[in-house]
Formats: sequence, structure tokens, C-alpha cells
Amino acid sequence: MSSNTRARLAAESAEHLTSAPVELPARWYDFLPDLPVPLPPVRDESSPSAADIARQVRPKALLEQDRPAERWVPIPEPVADLLRRIGRPTPLHRARSLESALGTRARIYLKREDVLPTGSFKLNSAIAQAHYAAEEGRTTLVTETGAGQWGMSVALAAALHGLDSEVFMVRCSLDQKPYRRHYMELLGATVRASPSPDTSVGRELLARVPDHPGSLGTAISDAIRHTLDLGPAAAYLSGSGVPHVYLHQTLLGLEVQAQLEALDEPVGVPGRGDHLIACSGGGSNLCGLIGPFLASVGDGSRELRLLAAESTAAPRLTAGSYRYGRSDLAGLTPEVLGYSMGPDFVPPPVHTAGLRNHHSSAAVSLLRHHRWLDAVAVEERSALEAGLLVLRTEGLLLAPETTHALAAAVDVAARADQTGGEPVIVVLASGSGLLDLQSYHQVLAGGAR
Ligand SMILES: Cc1ncc(COP(=O)(O)O)c(C=O)c1O
Repeated sequence: MSSNTRARLAAESAEHLTSAPVELPARWYDFLPDLPVPLPPVRDESSPSAADIARQVRPKALLEQDRPAERWVPIPEPVADLLRRIGRPTPLHRARSLESALGTRARIYLKREDVLPTGSFKLNSAIAQAHYAAEEGRTTLVTETGAGQWGMSVALAAALHGLDSEVFMVRCSLDQKPYRRHYMELLGATVRASPSPDTSVGRELLARVPDHPGSLGTAISDAIRHTLDLGPAAAYLSGSGVPHVYLHQTLLGLEVQAQLEALDEPVGVPGRGDHLIACSGGGSNLCGLIGPFLASVGDGSRELRLLAAESTAAPRLTAGSYRYGRSDLAGLTPEVLGYSMGPDFVPPPVHTAGLRNHHSSAAVSLLRHHRWLDAVAVEERSALEAGLLVLRTEGLLLAPETTHALAAAVDVAARADQTGGEPVIVVLASGSGLLDLQSYHQVLAGGAR
């Protein structure tokens, strides 16, 4: 290939598809000290305490990463190696066709986590967590999953480390998304519907509500209870909501920073209305994206709007109350101060399972409470319509969760156009929608549920 051709292709690819190539970050970043105030203490009055339970079920290295000694935590080489092998860094895609279709002056970038082998960003933390569990000699990974994206990631990370995996999947999602189960089972995972008759907490729930659709709260309870029953050879892993998961996901924001810099595209320029947008369930793709930017938001060196897109099915940040609550239903996790729909809230069985949490994490809630984070609740149909627009313009079929962030971005661009702004908008494309075609079909084309 001549050097002219090479230069032309490089220019075309920079213009149309991806950012200039950047290196995988060597370290994760602990952004918790950059929060507006320290995280409030948890409440942990049950017996045994949630802290005791965590010490039994979670790998020690992960508990230490909840409060790392250093701000920058080196990524162990075996983890970095796997992250490169699965395709990190992922592209930052300028959505020019979407911009044209909207007729906007905003510059919209999509951080393409949908390209990862399990179809979502969840694999970033699953690989790290499986590494630490294996290092400690644990042989079985147990977890919960909503839409199935986290479960798929744990099943793959377990297989890559020669470990077994067991996944409790929210019952209504298991019915809606059978292919995610098939994928996990191909990798050797045991998959159960939650609430599950195989655990004491699941049996209690089913005795009270026999046709319980399940929720992340039921699935977390089932998974922790089951890990306790399996004993010390098993490790319980969380897909979101806790600091070590956020730490692993800071790869997202760190890569975006490097990619925007390589493109010579500053973000957070005063007066422009620049935005970082992500959907928010347990908050891990959101915190992973915005975490590395918080210091510059706090010290005023960037003027950046941070926006969480949630589902109207569980609108904690926009309509919930700020109170202590748990992410599980059986009292196996500590009570944290966060925006909540209340412990008895069972979200309707929408397709966007990854956003059906009843209680928001402490970090996301704190950012919201101190008005560093804006939030918008998006109705499922509007979200999937934004997803359809991105499919038709950019050729990308993104996950129903992601489409909530896309709808929010479309809205931000439209408002900027009304006021003459020209913002940079970065949207975290958290996952692929190829296994969610039925959801698109049922909601948009009126197919049978
Ligand atoms: C594709 C996708 N995006 C987003 C989410 C929401 O998770 P979080 O709020 O932790 O980023 C999920 C959760 O299952 C998901 O599967």
C-alpha cells in the first residue's frame, strides 16, 4: 500500500469511524475522593452484618479496591492482556450520519462498548473480578443478572479463567431473552430464574408472590444466599453499584479522555454545553465514563454537564426519595443512602432489565443530590425509537438500556440547536442490541409480548 493511500485511509477512518488509536490505560482511577463530599456511612445493623457476609463471599482484593490506598491502581498484567485480547480500547465513534439526520450542530460521539465479545461493557469488570477470585483459589463465580449482559460476561470471564459459574437471572428477563441463557450455558454456566426455588430467600419470596417477575433485588438476594451455601470455594461478584466495579469501569472515561485528546477535540469548553451521557441502572457505565472527569468538574477547569438517563419504569433519580435502603430484598447487603423507589417497589417487566433497580447507588445518588449530575427518565418506546434512528443512520443496533442514553442525547442536541449551542456530546454506547431484537420488535412494531 502506498504511503498516500495509507494516509488517505487513516484520514478517512479518523473522520468517519473511530478516534486515533490510543493505548489501553495502565491504571484504573479511584474517583471517589473527587466526589463533592465523602460518601455517607452505610448502615449495617443486621446479624450477621452485611460486612461479615461480604468478607465471606467477596474476594479480598475486591473489597480492598472499594477503598484503594492509591488514587491510581495498576491493572495486573494478566487482566490488561485479556482486556487487549477482547478488543480494548474500544472505538470512539463520531455519529456524523445521526448528526445530519437530526440537523444538529452538536458533535455526537459514541463510546462503542457494544463491540466487545459479550456485547457490553460489563466484561471489563468481569475479567478483573474473575482474575482476583481465581488468584484467591476460588473455583466458582456466583452472580445475579438483569438483562443477562452481566451474566454473559461473568460466564465468559469464568471460562477464560477455568472457573465454574452460576447465574441467577431475573425471571421476566429470562423469559424475554432466552438467547442470553443459551450463551451462558454454552460456556458451562448454571442459570436459574430468580426468585429461585433453590435458595431459602427465593422460596420465601415465591411463597408470598408465586408469580413474582423477579427484579435485581431478588436476584442479588438469591446469588448471595447461594454463595454462602456453597462455602469458601465460591465467590460472589457484583456487576454494578459498588466501588470496585466503578473502579474497573473507569477505563471508559480514561479511554474517552485519551481519544478526544488524540482527535484534538476538547470537552468541557466553557459556554458550549458539552455533555457526558450514560444510562443508569446500578451506575457502572455512568460512573466509569464520568468518574475520571469529576476532578476537573469540581475544580471548574471543565464546564461539563453530566447526565444520567434512567427508565420511567424505575425513576429513582427523577422521582425517588433520598433515603437509606438496600439493593437486595433479603437484607444481605448494607443500607446505603441513595435515591430509592422504596424496598417494596417491583418495577414493571419492561425490556430494559438493566435499568430496573429499585435503589440507586450511594455514589450516583450523592452526585445527583449535590447537583453535579442531571437526570432524565425516558419511556421505553421513546428510547427504542432513538435506538431505531441510530440503527438507520449509523448502522448500529444498540442495547435497550443504551437507547435511553441515546434518547437523552437527541434531546440535548435539539435543545442546544434551539439556543444556538454547538456542544460536544459523548454517549456511552454500553451494549449491543443484537440479542434484543425481540424487544425492538415488540415495542416498536407491536409484536406479541
Ligand atoms: C447494556 C447495558 N447497559 C447498561 C446497563 C446498566 O448498568 P449500569 O447502570 O451498572 O451501567 C446494563 C445492565 O445490565 C446493560 O446490560
